[in-house]
Amino acid sequence: MSHPVAETAPGEHIDALALVRDTIAAADGPAEAGQRAVEILYERFPSYDWVGIYWVDPSATELVLGPWTGPEATEHTRIPIGTGICGAAAASGQTEIIDDVNLDPRYLACFTTTRSEIVVPIHHEGKVVGEIDIDGSDPAAFGPPDARFLEEVAALLAGLRPRLDEQPT
Ligand code: SME
Repeated sequence: MSHPVAETAPGEHIDALALVRDTIAAADGPAEAGQRAVEILYERFPSYDWVGIYWVDPSATELVLGPWTGPEATEHTRIPIGTGICGAAAASGQTEIIDDVNLDPRYLACFTTTRSEIVVPIHHEGKVVGEIDIDGSDPAAFGPPDARFLEEVAALLAGLRPRLDEQPT
């Protein structure tokens, strides 16, 4: 018997999406919700070796690192929009999948172990308000199913964006 839904969205993505949705609903505020969301992605997907959320700052010129989890901190806590793969995705509003970061001249290096990267913009009311950034230690760790899944996660995260009267932490 065929399962068309399972063919387009793997069960692990359906399960993780439901968990992120429930966790956000149960969290005590947006900061906790965002932190739990990145931890769910990091824990459930072995190829997601560093997971962070950047928010667009109130001036709309920079990305500011919000919740993240992974083996080490990044020095890139602020990235001008238009700079790096993160800044490119924020400028275009399009998901970026980079199979080999060493071949992409835009790449801003964070970790020596990173070989591939996916950046998925978070939209709200037609604007990019943030993005999910995930680094992988294997080449081509990410593909279209990750993009589709993470775009759904991003839609859930839009409600967690810092409001104009609050600075991201
Ligand atoms: N590699 C990103 C910078 C962010 S770190 O990966 C966490 C870029 O090229 O924009």
